[in-house]
Amino acid sequence: MEDKNIPLHVGIIMDGNGRWAKKRLMPRSFGHKSGMNAMIELAEHAQKCGVKYLTVYTLSTENLSRPQDELDGLFNLFRKYFTVNVKKLYENNARVRIIGDLSALPADVAELLKKGEDNSPADAEFTLVFAINYGSRTEIVNAVNRAVEQGKKLDEKGFASLLYTGDIPDPDLIIRTGGELRLSNFLMYQSAYAELYFTDVLFPDFSGKEFDKALKDYAARERRFGKV
Ligand code: FPP
Repeated sequence: MEDKNIPLHVGIIMDGNGRWAKKRLMPRSFGHKSGMNAMIELAEHAQKCGVKYLTVYTLSTENLSRPQDELDGLFNLFRKYFTVNVKKLYENNARVRIIGDLSALPADVAELLKKGEDNSPADAEFTLVFAINYGSRTEIVNAVNRAVEQGKKLDEKGFASLLYTGDIPDPDLIIRTGGELRLSNFLMYQSAYAELYFTDVLFPDFSGKEFDKALKDYAARERRFGKV
């Protein structure tokens, strides 16, 4: 595959953990744990493929109204990832970025996420962006309010700089696992010209091989950005 056909930034909606667990008569939390393992492998694989940014939709603003025991399970996974697993990411010369509203998370989790960013290598070749308590509509409304407060009239570039992703290039490819055909409030502004790839594979089964299929599909697309 030629380098120009490798997307710089891939976003992924990691859907299907609950169904994956249900099929195995296991609790949803088991699906999320398996999802975390799949995500760790995926990030390593994406970096090896030459992708520079991978944004993982880990918790949407809407997900925060899930039952408390499911949320507690997810928060425990964040605690584990950001104390143990993140070290391997750093060793691979990769960094962490967090997008979303951390103020609604347990304080110790928010603190760990901040540390995850702060302890990242400065000259990283790969960025793993966690979208946590993230929602595009909230992000856009916040950006509008900031612009109003600053009394600024903005162009597209200026507006984009006020989003959580101000320093991150727009995604070239958005993948959604788990069979649903929607974006669910994920990077709505940033993905205006992203290629979309949907698969029925449930996220815990989304292997490097499945990622390669998405890259192959992407490489065959003709991106015109509205031009002829
Ligand atoms: C949607 O699947 C998935 C989530 C709400 C959570 C995604 C989280 C992970 C993959 C774990 C990542 C963890 C860390 C620490 C990085 P769903 O549960 O809605 O699946 P369903 O549609 O089958 O019910």
